[in-house]
Amino acid sequence: MSKEFKSVDYGLEKIFEGAQDFLPLLGTDYVELYVGNAKQAAHFYKTAFGFQSYAYKGLETSSRDTVSYVLKQDKIKLVLTSPLGSASKINDHIVKHGDGVKVVALWVDDARDAYEQTIKRGATSYCKPFVETDENGETVRAGIYTYGETVHMFVERKNYKGVFLPGYREWTSDYSPESTGLKYIDHMVGNVGWNQMNTWVKFYEDVMGFVNFLSFDDKQIHTEYSALMSKVMSNGNGRIKFPINEPAEAAKKSQIEEYLDFYEGAGVQHLALATDDIIKTVAQLKARGIEFLPPPPQTYYDDIPQRLGEHMKVMKEDIEKLQELSILVDADEDGYLLQIFTKPLQDRPTLFFEIIQRMGAKGFGAGNFKALFESIEREQAQRGTL
Ligand code: FE2
Repeated sequence: MSKEFKSVDYGLEKIFEGAQDFLPLLGTDYVELYVGNAKQAAHFYKTAFGFQSYAYKGLETSSRDTVSYVLKQDKIKLVLTSPLGSASKINDHIVKHGDGVKVVALWVDDARDAYEQTIKRGATSYCKPFVETDENGETVRAGIYTYGETVHMFVERKNYKGVFLPGYREWTSDYSPESTGLKYIDHMVGNVGWNQMNTWVKFYEDVMGFVNFLSFDDKQIHTEYSALMSKVMSNGNGRIKFPINEPAEAAKKSQIEEYLDFYEGAGVQHLALATDDIIKTVAQLKARGIEFLPPPPQTYYDDIPQRLGEHMKVMKEDIEKLQELSILVDADEDGYLLQIFTKPLQDRPTLFFEIIQRMGAKGFGAGNFKALFESIEREQAQRGTL
């Protein structure tokens, strides 16, 4: 495995032993958001999260209908796209969903084959394989739908030496706020409607060849008021992990239901971005105005030594410092992890980011779910959507 991707070894090779991975994925290529004002969104993600200017297409590059800004931080590429007129279909997406993730692009060696293999297994086509060329070579892309109006685009770039994709030019800027230490996408979570989780689990299994390697039911993920269910899907080499959530019945409205109401359908709920130094990253993000979910109560931090047990011996971080920054800690048999969640990144309570640092742990912070959801519920209550 390339050391570019500091993936945890999930032991998935065992599950896949003997099975042929018909959809070998090299990693996440880019995540594209449709937004109302890409220029301003680009400024926000640069300033607040430390993304760097990377590539651009718009009127200056003869793109008459849409404008796209590509931002990069280590392995993470975000594309922010807006329409340049009322005729574009992108408007419909923005009217319905607000700013949100349209494309989760997957890097493959052979986009035509990826498309064929998934269509053959029942995927719905978004776009057939198409070739784009410029003086730097050629790329092949093809897309299939996943939940809601979200798309997986397969990106083949082995014959391309340009900065991003044909049609884009390199974007350099004198304004380059420092990186905040975000390195790669650890996982990406989708929210789907009532009783839809297993349908999408089956889609990732049958159509994409993923495996379900972790499940949480509503008995594990609940508070006094609300509940949800979640299953984590992974591709064969463990580089791509897509947890899928659905709401569950409870006394009050689940945060997943709130998302579905405001996104008006299924979609990407959060991107978890990995850092090697969460204390430094979060301190910088806070200094730049990023708002995080409010901290859990004092007892949460008092209980950390007991919850971490053996892992306390190797834990480098100072609990007081974690508490000061409202960072959460969880552990499993393999190690511990540190995580924190931003508030929604746009006005609708839909997409947010998680910042995660794995210290051996392979989980997704199940031990934090209760504290986390209570925190979200306090926010929901303020929005009148609990
Ligand atoms: Fe997460």
